[in-house]
Amino acid sequence: PQVTYIEHDGTEHRVAVEEGLSVMRGAVDNGVPGIDADCGGQCACATCHVFVDEAWFAKTGDRGEQEESMLSFAAATQPNSRLSCQIEMTAELDGLVVRLPEAQH
Ligand code: FES
Repeated sequence: PQVTYIEHDGTEHRVAVEEGLSVMRGAVDNGVPGIDADCGGQCACATCHVFVDEAWFAKTGDRGEQEESMLSFAAATQPNSRLSCQIEMTAELDGLVVRLPEAQH
């Protein structure tokens, strides 16, 4: 499945992310800037914060409890905010679009 990551300045990166990997891993492995993932996907750093495109938000599932609490401390959290390490790629998410917050630029 393909994911499009859109940087704060509008630069788009369209990459293939294997099913079962996280949206965070897909960015890090493909050199997409703006996702630092300091904690390596443990839901403990919030440097993998993304804004999920409205059309896709429901399909990415619900925020976990720890994710919710991390996001409550993150800068510029929006209703469509997710931690990308907590979104697992599935065939259903082919075409997913996420935007990266300015703070992670
Ligand atoms: Fe640290 Fe997602 S990589 S919270």
